[in-house]
Amino acid sequence: MSQYETPLFSGLIEHAKKDPVQFHIPGHKKGTGIDPEFRHFIGDNALSIDLINIGPLDDLHQPKGMIKQAQDLAAEAFDADQTFFSVQGTSGAIMTMVMTVCGPGDKIIVPRNVHKSVMSAIVFSGATPIFIHPAIDEKLGISHGITTDSVARALEQHPDAKGVLVINPTYFGMAADLRKIVEIAHSYKVPVLVDEAHGVHIHFHEDLPLSAMQAGADMAATSVHKLGGSMTQSSILNIKGNLINPKRVQSILSMLTTTSTSYLLLASLDVARKRLATEGKELISQTIELAQYIRREVNSIPHLLCVGEEILQLDAVYDYDPTKLIISVKELGLSGFDVEKWLRDNHNIEVEMSDLYNILCIVTPGDTKREADILISALKELAAQPINNNDMVKAEVLLPDIPLLALTPRDAFYAKTELVPFDESEGRIIAEFIMVYPPGIPIFIPGEIITEDNLTYIKKNMEVGLPVQGPEDFDLRYLRVIKEQKAIR
Ligand SMILES: Cc1ncc(COP(=O)(O)O)c(C=O)c1O
Repeated sequence: MSQYETPLFSGLIEHAKKDPVQFHIPGHKKGTGIDPEFRHFIGDNALSIDLINIGPLDDLHQPKGMIKQAQDLAAEAFDADQTFFSVQGTSGAIMTMVMTVCGPGDKIIVPRNVHKSVMSAIVFSGATPIFIHPAIDEKLGISHGITTDSVARALEQHPDAKGVLVINPTYFGMAADLRKIVEIAHSYKVPVLVDEAHGVHIHFHEDLPLSAMQAGADMAATSVHKLGGSMTQSSILNIKGNLINPKRVQSILSMLTTTSTSYLLLASLDVARKRLATEGKELISQTIELAQYIRREVNSIPHLLCVGEEILQLDAVYDYDPTKLIISVKELGLSGFDVEKWLRDNHNIEVEMSDLYNILCIVTPGDTKREADILISALKELAAQPINNNDMVKAEVLLPDIPLLALTPRDAFYAKTELVPFDESEGRIIAEFIMVYPPGIPIFIPGEIITEDNLTYIKKNMEVGLPVQGPEDFDLRYLRVIKEQKAIR
């Protein structure tokens, strides 16, 4: 089959054209049984292929027909040995990766700033995380990737780890030296699992960082929906090499996946793969050019900084994705949160995210010079306003020590717990997550022993106005800890 074909999407259209009499779910039956206003809005075409795993349409849980053909084409496009489609987002694919390599008590090496799906999988599997501190960018107040040295040190100390998980590229588009990380891990026969949520496009352009499959990683969970043009929630899981058993991957992914898989999402993966494989390079070239245009213009605006290739001087940044625009706004005397709101209220612009110091805008083949100029002129207007230096964002980004893990996150999660006053919690084992954003690194994960230093760190961050996230008690007067069993007299 050629990359120009879309076996799944085309197969669904062919099936719908036959206009079968449907005595199966979904009960809206080609849209005739759905709310008319919704039907009118979403259209009969979409509803006609909102189907289910009847015989002719294959089954994501045991693909043999059109889904298998679509997955095989994706494997070829991404240079993987095998590709699995996910309708549970990249979160589902990440949980599958972790649970494929880890069982109860197994170690997995992970950066401290992992996505919550990694921690969920650690709880589900009963694995023990071995954390690596990501590099912190003091200037931008964000965390980057992990260095090759830190991976080497972690493996030296834990050669029995069942996997190394790497976020590549990060949300902000920073890439590690993934090929070297893979080389180090493979010298211990340890597989590398890549969270590639923000990197589906990098595989298709040589000016972008190496993709997980290009770097020789064993597994990669990749959000096609984020930057690759498929519908929200649709992702892929690529595998390569002989350290991973594909049958185990399939069965774990199946365990974590709904039996009512959406064919709209699956078909959108098929067409996104076709576009990336056949036109991706050209589309991404245009996207890079557009992003570089915005970057240059923003950098000509006083008090604004749009991060560019100077970031490559940092240890943990081996390469970067220029289609991500990190715009540092702190010199305006405003926080990223303020700027996000100002752009929304005054120009109907929605950014991807904001934090204390920055806004993040993503540029994709869906953008044109029109959108670029709207953003540039809005930022010019904002920067022309008087600056109140008293409001300058001065918060310092500190790096907390990682506390000792007394229980696996799973044991802590299932243990009996109680709330104790924040100031009396030192020495207890925490049962909840607490993180400060930015830089988005957890201070505590369930199972860790609370230290005075880390309590002080939380207080300091709150004093300077950094948002502390995670605890059940938003005001942090209490923390949830593991209940202690007192001796009976
Ligand atoms: C770094 C990272 N990993 C994983 C995910 C999860 O992806 P999804 O939303 O497709 O489940 C996200 C989502 O934002 C993410 O930022």
